[in-house]
Amino acid sequence: MEVVAASHYNCGVTCGSDGCHGSGHLFAADLRASGRQPRRFVDPTDNYGALARMHPAIIQGGMGVGISSWRLARAVSRLGQLGVVSGTALDQVLARRLQDGDRGGHMRRGLDRFPFPKMAERIWGKYYSAGGKAENTPYQSLPKHAKDSPRELVELCIVANFVEVILAREGHENPVGINYLEKIQIPHLPSLYGAMLAGVGYVLMGAGIPLRIPGALDRLAEHEPASYPLQVSGAQEGDDTTITFVPRDFTERELPPLFRPHFLAIVASNTLAVALQKKANGRVDGFVVEGPTAGGHNAPPRGKVQLNEAGEPIYGDRDRVDLEKLRELGLPFWLAGGYGSAGKLREALAAGAAGVQVGTAFAFCAESALRDDYKQALLKKAISGEARVFTDAVASPTNFPFKVAQLEGTLSEREEHLARPRVCDAGYLREAYRTAEGTIDFRCSGEPVSVYLSKQGKPEDTVGRKCLCNALLANIGHAQVRSGRYVEKGLVTCGDDLSKIPSFLPPNTTSYTAADVIAKLLDA
Ligand SMILES: Cc1cc2nc3c(=O)[nH]c(=O)nc-3n(C[C@H](O)[C@H](O)[C@H](O)COP(=O)(O)O)c2cc1C
Repeated sequence: MEVVAASHYNCGVTCGSDGCHGSGHLFAADLRASGRQPRRFVDPTDNYGALARMHPAIIQGGMGVGISSWRLARAVSRLGQLGVVSGTALDQVLARRLQDGDRGGHMRRGLDRFPFPKMAERIWGKYYSAGGKAENTPYQSLPKHAKDSPRELVELCIVANFVEVILAREGHENPVGINYLEKIQIPHLPSLYGAMLAGVGYVLMGAGIPLRIPGALDRLAEHEPASYPLQVSGAQEGDDTTITFVPRDFTERELPPLFRPHFLAIVASNTLAVALQKKANGRVDGFVVEGPTAGGHNAPPRGKVQLNEAGEPIYGDRDRVDLEKLRELGLPFWLAGGYGSAGKLREALAAGAAGVQVGTAFAFCAESALRDDYKQALLKKAISGEARVFTDAVASPTNFPFKVAQLEGTLSEREEHLARPRVCDAGYLREAYRTAEGTIDFRCSGEPVSVYLSKQGKPEDTVGRKCLCNALLANIGHAQVRSGRYVEKGLVTCGDDLSKIPSFLPPNTTSYTAADVIAKLLDA
């Protein structure tokens, strides 16, 4: 398959076969002057050729759960930057969209493009509810992911990741990325395979050390069995902790090899970047370097964690990434965490970065899937100077600091948190551990305390924990309902840049689009 264009879409110069990243890009002005539309990757089996090494200046960061949905990523990629869908818990997201009646028919459209129709129909048949479920009826509960997940769940993962990516690729030929948290390990292989069937151009992964993802991408591109090591607390030598996925157990016909997406690891230290480059079992194509002001989970400070008076982790000089050293690795990198402005993009480029990854600015734009009432309320707070973001050191069961926007009616409020029945029924952030009998079981420090303790969990680990799985699904309008009465509350995450989002509003408006963000960043 021929690749379609031969000019670098973010620097406007003609590139040789080595690409031209990392060489002091001039971007917006050149792009404007050239009048060229970026036209690139076209087919999942496409080998992309020389253009494979040309990268965007702006990455719209993956934002889970479902905040960076296909709609946002499509809007960004259409404009020639990199739109990234969140791959986190997409199985739940698809199942719930179908139970809500598939408004707009988008899921149906995506399912119709899935290469294995029988599998697509099984998903549709199981979850689709014409007209949508009644408001006080709970969503169906899905089986939880386990080392050997049931086939129906594996299929749902493959299909959900396919649908999200294929919809984000509609109407343009530019690449789309998908983001995963390394910590949520079990769904990785079927999820990646589903995204690759849809021709995903980039895989971005943070919140862990994804040494074995690059090799898995190589295998999956050939439809070959792939494996991934499950981190099991207390595992002993000889324990079988390997997850295996065999694509041909699920395919309904032979397909040609798939495009092997670029792999960008999200890092917060030089050490991790070096380890990934040296020890990964396949090609790492670049890094996103994310600092502690970014939305979502943050890497904890190095060394013993110290908290300020408010209870937020304190970061210091040791947490700064040495960009000089990073440059020596010779791979492209993007800077993230407070880089959502034209000045910061220029600064990043001047520091040798290929560009920036931006989340918060996009989380509040019209195409983001964040609930409208939350979006509007936080935008108002930002305009009036009352927006507050708290770096919660204990909320996330992952044990990573988690940024939380302070907002009435959400779990950021103590009373709302205390009023929530402690339930763990989605289970994405559960940790695998070795039982006394030598088997593998799962526990979450956000689950009922007695249950957690019965699984050798430590009581101190349960304090202040919040159920991010349910809260983040509630953020995008898919709140679970319990006993027809309790409706799960949201918990909005965003970066310290929340206070700056009013700068994206066009004059006399109360909302802005992804295009407004991009135009502002490119100073267009
Ligand atoms: C609402 C929201 C959700 C996020 N979720 C994720 C996620 O699931 N995975 C991830 O790697 N990063 C996540 N991030 C981080 C972004 O991808 C991006 O790196 C970060 O927002 C950049 O910093 P900024 O917020 O200052 O622009 C999230 C950020 C936001 C605002």
